[in-house]
Amino acid sequence: MSFRLQPPAPARPNRCQLFGPGSNFKLLPKMAASAADVINIDLEDSVAPTDKDAARANAIEAINSIDWGKKYLSVRINGLDSPWWYRDVVDLLEEGGERLDQIMIPKVGCAADVYAVDALVTSIEAATGRKKRISFEVIIESAAGIAHVEEIAASSPRLQAMSLGAADFAASMGMATTGIGGTQENYYMLQDGQKHWSDPWHWATAAIVSACRTHGILPVDGPFGDFSDDEGFRAQARRVATLGMVGKWAIHPKQIALANEVFTPSDAAVAEAREILAAMEAAKAKGEGATVYKGRLVDIASIKQAEVIVRQAEMFAE
Ligand code: COA
Ligand code: MG
Repeated sequence: MSFRLQPPAPARPNRCQLFGPGSNFKLLPKMAASAADVINIDLEDSVAPTDKDAARANAIEAINSIDWGKKYLSVRINGLDSPWWYRDVVDLLEEGGERLDQIMIPKVGCAADVYAVDALVTSIEAATGRKKRISFEVIIESAAGIAHVEEIAASSPRLQAMSLGAADFAASMGMATTGIGGTQENYYMLQDGQKHWSDPWHWATAAIVSACRTHGILPVDGPFGDFSDDEGFRAQARRVATLGMVGKWAIHPKQIALANEVFTPSDAAVAEAREILAAMEAAKAKGEGATVYKGRLVDIASIKQAEVIVRQAEMFAE
């Protein structure tokens, strides 16, 4: 173990982040009534330039008037290259009330992007006497974002979560793709004339998970555009869960149950994790650091893996 211990990520459910455009007020109460852990009211790319002011006003009204229950409530502001973002931050913090939990900063390219928003938010919080400190989440969706992912993960104590935004990421990287996330037709290996598809998002996903885990941030997978393809969503979600991500966006309500299913450990996985912990307790009582469980080696590292699953299950059960 490094002398510097790995900080824990925020202990709150983040299995599904449901998005909806701020310009469509009718959707917002439906989002509040959904089974998503996190709500993202969007002011950025799902809102047309002519609707930006109306969407911002809707978001503020929705924050103040809708019962959001236990949801973690986040608003995606416009990018720092736009003429809208400062007004988003100022109005949300001055008028959005204490119910707002988080601001999502899109297209972050370096730590200074987060620093700039932090400086503005900190000043407004001090001026208005807000009691709850707003947290941040960022989207890694550019070549610069992934190149600077570790400094971004370390950029602010407000930062709680980091998502991979596949579509903008692919565009920025010049990737020859069109779909938003998932399998890409031309990304395959050939073996005996048979195609085997690989995961073009793998390395970016792993880089984000590593940066996040180093700095105690929640790593999250972004959108899966084809909301008619449940199995495609499940496959994408299962791959990123295997790599350490804790949740995924939903851009349509039918994706919420799929995300919750994949990112909630199954009863069988929890039962096995508890059995491994019990087997290791028994081994420890005999002075052994390793033992055999169902014909395979389990050791002290297995305890840590099992504890991740048990901790998740306990958090979701609350
Ligand atoms: N949150 C909550 N409810 C939603 C919703 C959302 N994001 N999207 C659709 N619904 C509701 C609809 O209002 C409809 O409700 P009803 O049964 O009461 O009429 C129901 O779910 C079925 O919707 P459907 O007709 O299948 O979809 P649509 O054509 O109304 O909307 C989209 C499709 C993609 C335009 C819409 O889902 C959407 O705006 N998604 C979010 C896009 C976004 O935020 N992108 C930015 C992040 S990438
Ligand atoms: Mg984007």
